[in-house]
Amino acid sequence: MNLYETWFCGSQLWRWVTRRQLLPWMLQGSQLGEHVLELGAGPGAATEELSRLAGRVTSLEYDHNFAAKLGARVNNANPSVTVIQGDAATLPFSSGTFSSAIAILMLHHLRSNELQDRAFAEIARVLRPGGVFLAFEIQDSWLNRVGHFRSTFVPLAPASVVARLRAAGFSIAATNLRSGRFLVRALR
Ligand SMILES: C[S@@+](CC[C@H](N)C(=O)[O-])C[C@H]1O[C@@H](n2cnc3c(N)ncnc32)[C@H](O)[C@@H]1O
Repeated sequence: MNLYETWFCGSQLWRWVTRRQLLPWMLQGSQLGEHVLELGAGPGAATEELSRLAGRVTSLEYDHNFAAKLGARVNNANPSVTVIQGDAATLPFSSGTFSSAIAILMLHHLRSNELQDRAFAEIARVLRPGGVFLAFEIQDSWLNRVGHFRSTFVPLAPASVVARLRAAGFSIAATNLRSGRFLVRALR
């Protein structure tokens, strides 16, 4: 991530928007169940709120610094949260471990479509049958490209994501577009 993204994702504003607006939108009509996997937790804007909504949270983060900082903040204070450093495309969990999985602004940080498809297949593998995968993404635009200057930005096309999720093992998948942003909801 670049400095702008690091600042933004760690800001109180983003944490507030995530808690008050984004998660309620993402969770409309979906249940997280008792064990949610958070993918690409970053500075943890959603982590504590997820632990309020689900019995248990496992937060996976690729960046060692983010994972260490978030772990120091929540691992002792909140026994229902576990922070792990790892890669969404190679998940270190047994099949059928989680009741749900959530990825907020993480998928476009995977460096290729192939890695995104590998992550989809891994997420499908670690979800129990009937488990739900929810993602929030931004569409391709010049503004979003500028915001990812010297960072990774491999935007997903909402029109093809449903077919990609079904190919990865999800039974039902849908997208919900809202002015340049979109939600993905898929059932294992
Ligand atoms: C834009 S940030 C979003 C962070 C957080 N979800 C939020 O909403 O504030 C994307 C995060 O995905 C993480 N990430 C990138 N590649 C990843 C991978 N292969 N596996 C897990 N996390 C990854 C980045 O390190 C970064 O923390």
